[in-house]
Amino acid sequence: MCTLKAILHDATMLLKAVKSMPELEQTKAKYLGKSGSLTAQLKSLGTMGAEEKKVAGAAINQIKAQVETLISEAKSRIASAELEATLDTESIDVTQPGRSAGVGGLHPVTRALEQIEALFATMGFAVADGPEIETDYYCFTALNTPPNHPARSMQDTFYIADSEHVLRPHTSPVQIRYMEEHKPPFRIICPGRVYRCDHDATHSPMFHQIEGLWIDEAISLADLKGTLTQFLRAFFERDDMQIRFRPSFFPFVEPGVEVDMEWENKGGKIKWLEIGGAGVVHPQVLRNGNIDPEKYSGFAFGIGLDRLAMLKYGVTDLRLFFENDIKFLSQFR
Ligand code: PHE
Repeated sequence: MCTLKAILHDATMLLKAVKSMPELEQTKAKYLGKSGSLTAQLKSLGTMGAEEKKVAGAAINQIKAQVETLISEAKSRIASAELEATLDTESIDVTQPGRSAGVGGLHPVTRALEQIEALFATMGFAVADGPEIETDYYCFTALNTPPNHPARSMQDTFYIADSEHVLRPHTSPVQIRYMEEHKPPFRIICPGRVYRCDHDATHSPMFHQIEGLWIDEAISLADLKGTLTQFLRAFFERDDMQIRFRPSFFPFVEPGVEVDMEWENKGGKIKWLEIGGAGVVHPQVLRNGNIDPEKYSGFAFGIGLDRLAMLKYGVTDLRLFFENDIKFLSQFR
């Protein structure tokens, strides 16, 4: 009994003084752990006779209950002390202004493209896609521009060392790829990155074009004019905008035209701005795409997406689109 009293006395002193959870765990183990003193007492019951065991067992359990109470008191004391401490050190100033997450936005070229895709969708055009690293065949030969054709030097093409691949200088190769995979009638636009060896305020070595292709029976230059005029008027929201089609040469169309649109600059002066090339698809190009030119005809165009975005948003230097200056870009949010 003497031992039990001593254990309780000892435990009371220690448990009233513990200051942290780890310390409490250690102290608890000292009495109730595997080799704790109260555990040892309980074990000793095994060696006693029945009568003795009854008395001793009751005494031990009573002390054990008291120690357990002391432990849970210590636990809640430590928990509230720890909470006090955090509240003291980690104060929150609820009057401080919040930090906003910052609202992102679409790049102006992407925005223009989304509008353009939506406008062409209303005219029944699907959106097609093609690779940016393209073969010489799709970029030129299939587009009626055989090797050594002088028209190849019109485009400042980036050739790749293997001489079979190029960084596509225009989106027109998608015309052939699409014809190979689909039967007419169809109408598509194909927006995408193109590459040319050129760099100044209005030219970038990488820029965006939108190819258009409509193949059906009896499609003519008149359909091209109607489609592009309607598109440009809708995109710039100007019903009276004038569009001009100037005769030009591209090996893959006949006749070929250059498309200009009327534009009023800041000084109020009306100017013609070139926005792309177009024409009636050359019969040889249809044949290269496995389409019978006796039955089908079509028109194609290739317009500069960045150019259209610049005009729409009043941007005067093309390079701004690709410099990733957040101050510039955030104006378009
Ligand atoms: N691919 C031509 C260019 O990039 C534009 C074009 C497309 C011309 C379709 C006619 C038909 O200059």
